[in-house]
Amino acid sequence: MALTNQDILEIRKDFPILQRQVNGKPLIYFDNAATSQTPQPVIDTIVDYYSNYNANIHRGVHTLSQEATDKYEEARITVQKHFNAAQPYEIILTAGTTHAINLVANGFASILKKGDEVLVSALEHHSNIVPWQILCEKTGAILKVIPQTESGELDLEAFNKAMTPDLKIVFVNHVSNALGTVNPIQYIIDQAHKVGAAVLIDGAQATPHIKPDVQALDADFYVCSAHKICGPTGVGVLYGKEEWLTKLPPYQGGGEMIDQVTFKKTTYAGLPHKFEAGTPNICGGIATAAGLDYMNNIGFDMIAAYEQQLLKYATKELLTIEGLKIYGTSKDKTAVISFNVGSIHPYDIGTILDKLGIAVRTGHHCAQPIMDFYKIPGTVRASFSFYNTKEEIDIFVASLKRAVMMLS
Ligand code: ALA
Repeated sequence: MALTNQDILEIRKDFPILQRQVNGKPLIYFDNAATSQTPQPVIDTIVDYYSNYNANIHRGVHTLSQEATDKYEEARITVQKHFNAAQPYEIILTAGTTHAINLVANGFASILKKGDEVLVSALEHHSNIVPWQILCEKTGAILKVIPQTESGELDLEAFNKAMTPDLKIVFVNHVSNALGTVNPIQYIIDQAHKVGAAVLIDGAQATPHIKPDVQALDADFYVCSAHKICGPTGVGVLYGKEEWLTKLPPYQGGGEMIDQVTFKKTTYAGLPHKFEAGTPNICGGIATAAGLDYMNNIGFDMIAAYEQQLLKYATKELLTIEGLKIYGTSKDKTAVISFNVGSIHPYDIGTILDKLGIAVRTGHHCAQPIMDFYKIPGTVRASFSFYNTKEEIDIFVASLKRAVMMLS
């Protein structure tokens, strides 16, 4: 079974924003790697929360507070089941992927000592580089890098050589945001575990297309953002194995994360509350579960298969444009195409496409080391979702041809 054109037309009706016009043209939204759009059931969940049971959680005996608490904790269980975590308290709801990575990196400051090694990949988003650089500055640990190849894949020979007894943690994305490469995370986790290193997987770009099983992967940490999986902005997920979350110190102090507070000494709450200081994004957490439910109703296998059709079609059509070069040509890719045309600046192409109603991302995509590798200032990035169509790709390619003619 595959998603048919009729299925996609029905799905599109769930996304009010897809009905709007931009600059007098029907919106063609190809910036899904930055943020997915929001289906009506998720919008309804947000409206229902603020209309009917907006209250603080874990604090009140009153009905609204109890209803909000129940829904929030149900949402945690939906997330737990989606990722196949062993326990609901291994799911920490954060403000996003960046927050989740900083939480773990900060925790490792109390574990690492001078001379320990941490390993990052050359394909990372800045949010999976900078927190670890800060950590290395604090601890004297050494940051090592797995280099990339011309096709935008990780150099696994170099990775294998980095497996030393000094290695303490590896952090790699499941999918590169700038190139779409799917990294061999199972291999990376297995090898790192052989030398006793922990592994954090940044799943921000994988989770819109792939349903990860954190137990099967044996990942120590897996992080992602709700706004790329049909949920709201400002919410993220940190999965951490119980043994790791128990070992790491709290990230922020505040209400909700404590057991007892006196001026002499404070003791901390158990998981997951130890890492959820302050009033969380309650509505956001509940809406995250609604986004996952929406995508699971369609089915991640169906989503991935359909998006691969879009990727194949768009790649073929784009390559008919003279001078167009695609960056990231790995066999295993999600529906992301990063490209440049001749020496035209990506920003100029993005601006003209916007005038024609087409949203793409331009620039370095928060992945400057990748741009440095290719010696380019940035790329145009078109990223597709299950609600995009081949007809939109046809309009995009024709519009791009117009833009190239105007700019050449
Ligand atoms: N990290 C997001 C992107 O790649 C914002 O566009």
